[in-house]
Amino acid sequence: MNRRNFTRELTGVLAGALGVRAVAVISPTLRERTQLPAQPRLRVNGVRLNESLSALAEFGKTAAGGVTRLAYGDADRAAREYAMGLMRAAKLEVRVDAAGNIIGRRAGREAALPAILFGSHIDSVPDGGRYDGNVGSMGAIEVAQTLADNNVVTRHPLEVVIFQNEEGGLIGSRGMIGALTERELDLVSRSGKTIRDGITFIGGDPARLAEARRKPGELAAYLELHIEQGAVLDTEKIDIGVVEGIVGINWWDVTVQGFANHAGTTPMDRRRDALLAAARFIEAVNRVVTSVPGRQVGTVGRIQALPGAPNVIPGTVVLSLELRDLDAAKINMLYERIRAEARRIGDASGTVFDFKEINVNEPAPTDPRLRGMIADAARELGLTTKVMPSGAGHDAQDMARIGPAGMIFVPSVGGISHSPRELSRAEDITNGANVLLGTVLKVDAAR
Ligand code: HGY
Ligand code: MN
Ligand code: MN
Repeated sequence: MNRRNFTRELTGVLAGALGVRAVAVISPTLRERTQLPAQPRLRVNGVRLNESLSALAEFGKTAAGGVTRLAYGDADRAAREYAMGLMRAAKLEVRVDAAGNIIGRRAGREAALPAILFGSHIDSVPDGGRYDGNVGSMGAIEVAQTLADNNVVTRHPLEVVIFQNEEGGLIGSRGMIGALTERELDLVSRSGKTIRDGITFIGGDPARLAEARRKPGELAAYLELHIEQGAVLDTEKIDIGVVEGIVGINWWDVTVQGFANHAGTTPMDRRRDALLAAARFIEAVNRVVTSVPGRQVGTVGRIQALPGAPNVIPGTVVLSLELRDLDAAKINMLYERIRAEARRIGDASGTVFDFKEINVNEPAPTDPRLRGMIADAARELGLTTKVMPSGAGHDAQDMARIGPAGMIFVPSVGGISHSPRELSRAEDITNGANVLLGTVLKVDAAR
């Protein structure tokens, strides 16, 4: 064992045996003799963390090895119970807020200080992966468990959060910042329940949403550990991504109205085929989005043709449109161009396009000070870092509207996500949780 490792081991043993506060008190003398690092290095238990992740992956497990854990479904509710059990074991005081978010709190030493909030989500897309959201949720609980195991009491209160229905449009975090509208509560989520009924199903109270609201300045910071979901870190063999900003995501439901008619007796030149118009529209979305330089993306991910029979010309089509970019103005510009294309396609095909805005998640930069702390925490662990944008949406972008928010990425093998083949390596997950722990302690220590 070289001197550096020996020093680290010694610190770990002392921290475990005495509690880090005790080590902090005696370390000046020890440091003189053994060159201990300035901060005692607390580490998460990576084996325990990866075991919790495996256990969580059983809830809603699919044949392909991923998970279908749609918000407000039975698997979601059962997984939430499991997570709440882990939180209680980590000595957190657990509650479900009126918006349905799970919050586990531990008191700090200085009662007047605002809480440091950290966590993620455990709901999934249909046949999604077992790491998206889960890594940050289990990682946050592991951080709390590590602090409890080592009798570390921070200055600030700490709150571990598991946001509800992240995949349905950041619903839980929107509830927390007071941005959920009555109209949204009546939207039907992928589980088949309205968001309003779903919130009740998971133990929230949609009639008292105001009580879930956290005001600007109420939190010291929000931190989220997450898998990258892209291939940058994996390709460049970098341990940790320091997120500089999170894309805005806008969703619309687009209805194409044509005329349903007999598929055998209606000649080709007399048709008002909504599905044919929709096909042209999908192609136009791709063309518009790729017509300007930049990292913007646009997707039609869901389509339904009605009445839906081989011998009926489709009279109505409902499809989804999603646009993402770090710049909200660019999203609007693309949207206007897409609408112009839709008008042109409608005029040429005897159909009418109607756009209904479903969800808007504003783009958000992360807090520069938190970025620095994340990078420092990673460096102190000997990990490499890269500053990068997030192409995926995260609850952090809502939290950034009421206080400083920071995000830590760990590599996704092959950049695959929202797929049963999503994979992040155990050691990368452990690294990420250690960076989260280090960052929470840095935020706590900052005056
Ligand atoms: O859709 C998304 O970006 C996500 O993973 N929440
Ligand atoms: Mn996701
Ligand atoms: Mn996610």
